[in-house]
This record gives sequence, C-alpha cells and structure tokens, in this order.
Amino acid sequence: MTAIRAFIAIELPDAIREKLSLLLDRLKCPETSAVRWVPVSNIHLTLKFLGDTSPNNLEIFSKILHAEAARRRSFEFEIGGIGTFPNLRRPRVIWVGVQAPAELIGLQRSIEGEAIRLGYNPDGRPFSPHLTLGRVNQNATPQEVRQISDVLLKQPSEKLGKVTVDRVVLFRSDLRPNGAVYTPLATAKLGH
Ligand code: 2AM
Repeated sequence: MTAIRAFIAIELPDAIREKLSLLLDRLKCPETSAVRWVPVSNIHLTLKFLGDTSPNNLEIFSKILHAEAARRRSFEFEIGGIGTFPNLRRPRVIWVGVQAPAELIGLQRSIEGEAIRLGYNPDGRPFSPHLTLGRVNQNATPQEVRQISDVLLKQPSEKLGKVTVDRVVLFRSDLRPNGAVYTPLATAKLGH
C-alpha cells in the first residue's frame, strides 16, 4: 500500500498567525528570492516528523495520539524571539522560538518513544521546539545570506503571545510544485 508522508504537530491559533504574518512582512523587507517563506497557514510546531508512513502505522499513530492526549491536561507555551539553525551568521532555517514547558517536552518525548517502538528513527538531535518561518535556499549567495542575517539581527526580541495546546494533530504532507499541502488526518484532544 502507498506510504503517506506524515508528521505530528501542534497548530497555532488565528491570533498568533496574525502576529506571525506581521513579523513575516517585516522579514520579507527587503524582498529576496533566497528564502522560501512558509505560508502563515502552514506554520506549526512539529513534534515528530514521521516521513513515509504506511496506512496501518497511521492508524496506530492516531490511536497513540488519542491515548497520549486523553491522559494529559491542556497547557500553554509562549512564543517569541527569532533564531536560525545552525546559527545567525549561517542561517538555513529561520524560526520563532518556543518557550517549552515540561508538559510540551513530556508530550514530545512520549510521541518520540512510541515512534521508536514502531521502528522509526530517533531524531538525531535533542528536541528543539521552534516554528519554522522560512528556509534559506542552498544556492543563496554570501551577499544574500548577509542581507538576511542583517534583517534578522535587527529584529527586536519580542514576545508574540501564548498558545494554548488543547489538541495534537497527525498531518499528511503532500509536496506540490508550489509548496507543501498539509491535511489533518487525526486530531486528538487533550483532557481538560
Ligand atoms: P521544521 O522544519 O519546522 O522543523 C512537515 O514537513 C514538518 O516536519 C516540517 O515543518 C518540518 O519541521 C518537519 N520535519 C522534520 N524533519 C523533516 C524532514 N527530514 N523532512 C521534512 N520535514 C521535516
């Protein structure tokens, strides 16, 4: 059966998306083709990227998410501050930071553990929660990279608000020529 590219994530409320949209407007100035910006509607907090997943495993993950969510209470996290991977002078991924409470770390760790039990590769690096805003093209010139870093360094380190986590979503990701299309396959509500 055909595998489906999938990942598990937390969605953002409209109020936060609006703030991210304003921030993106600032970052896109001056305009550069060296960054592929993520459409605001596609910005999320990834908990686990699964990659190609069989329909059978998708069902198992849906059950896992419902079980994990049911035994947890909803919680909040705060977002703010811009950063880049691997570092500000060599930006590849441009992100907004997430101040992760223990509940978020615990949720991610449980999902990661369940994925490993199902045979998925562990994430090579420690969980570093972030909201990806854009990805710098590999063929960006040093001048373009410097221009991007300068814009990022000029941004105030402001808090953008709080996200209440009351659900976890299993998404399907379809890579299309004009960008990824994310479709929720299962939504698990946290206990109240
Ligand atoms: P990130 O770039 O925000 O870390 C869906 O593709 C999501 O899964 C992306 O937002 C991406 O999150 C995350 N992801 C993690 N590892 C990935 C990989 N190897 N390929 C594609 N997406 C990955």
